[in-house]
Amino acid sequence: MSFSGKILDWYHKNKRVLPWRKTTDPYKIWLSEIILQQTRVAQGTPYYLRFVETFPTVGDLANAKEEQVLKLWQGLGYYSRARNLHAAAKMVMGEYKGKFPDNYKKLLTLKGVGDYTASAISSICFNEPHAVVDGNVYRVLSRYYGIDIPINSTEGIKYFKSLAQKVMDPENIRDYNQAIMEFGAMQCSPKKPLCLLCPLNESCVALEKGLVDQLPVKLKKTKVSSRYFNYLIPIYKDAKNNKFTILQQRKGKGIWQNLWEFPLIESKASLELNDVIAGSNAVFDGAVVKDIHIYNDMDIVHKLSHQHLHTKFWIVDIEADLSNKIPVEKVTEFPVPVLIADFIKAFKF
Ligand code: ADE
Repeated sequence: MSFSGKILDWYHKNKRVLPWRKTTDPYKIWLSEIILQQTRVAQGTPYYLRFVETFPTVGDLANAKEEQVLKLWQGLGYYSRARNLHAAAKMVMGEYKGKFPDNYKKLLTLKGVGDYTASAISSICFNEPHAVVDGNVYRVLSRYYGIDIPINSTEGIKYFKSLAQKVMDPENIRDYNQAIMEFGAMQCSPKKPLCLLCPLNESCVALEKGLVDQLPVKLKKTKVSSRYFNYLIPIYKDAKNNKFTILQQRKGKGIWQNLWEFPLIESKASLELNDVIAGSNAVFDGAVVKDIHIYNDMDIVHKLSHQHLHTKFWIVDIEADLSNKIPVEKVTEFPVPVLIADFIKAFKF
């Protein structure tokens, strides 16, 4: 049996029942594929269900406020994906008059849709013979064919796309594309792949040469930089003992664009209490600071793909009324980075 035949055969016996496998609505397939680029099936499924329930059609998504889209995306990270999702929904309603693009070429014009997503949607929804290449596919192909070209090099990207296109089953592309990804996720997994029980184990080059652990090859990423974040959590109590704080929206390029956070002092190195006291006057614009104390004794190191954020949270008791204050009960309504959401969950206001 051919490579694709064995993959398809395995899929028919082992595939998981997943909510987006019940539909070929390109809007829903697009949602699922964008979410699954960000996370695994188990974590992504509840996000998918919430998106489809909140926005049953692409028009509903286009008409939503960006805040609401970001809030639903909260926890997945890489928020430009959520903003692109929203922008693409608006393109479908505007440039495509509400009809979701129905071929690979048109799909590529949508914001945030590249070769992978256009291949996935056009094959799953419209049976177009475009092979998908995601992390799972890189792993399966590099191991089975014993290819050590780095998957994140220009050469590798071209090589694996062309190999994927050569070995796919164009007659069953809808299932084949999902099959090879599912096979990579469940059978040919990154760690402890199930080679003993694998239907391809008689012809897998990596298995024969003992290279399963070394493939695929990936070039080292650029250096990770360290940043030092000091969040000031102002707390103001009014005469009735209602508590208030401040959240600010992050603007400009860089991480967490348009998400909300507490007032921030970023520094070149870790700060001490005295530095924060000195800096807090400028932050709170003259409001009288009664007390400042640290919340976390050890820095919380929040890891992003290229940055480590060494973070301290400082609790700041404020004596005078604050402008732009919000009741502390309302902080959970704002879209915030996971770093802030974790603090809010743990902190007793
Ligand atoms: N990973 C991303 N999309 C997938 C799909 N449609 N099937 C299986 N795994 C996937």
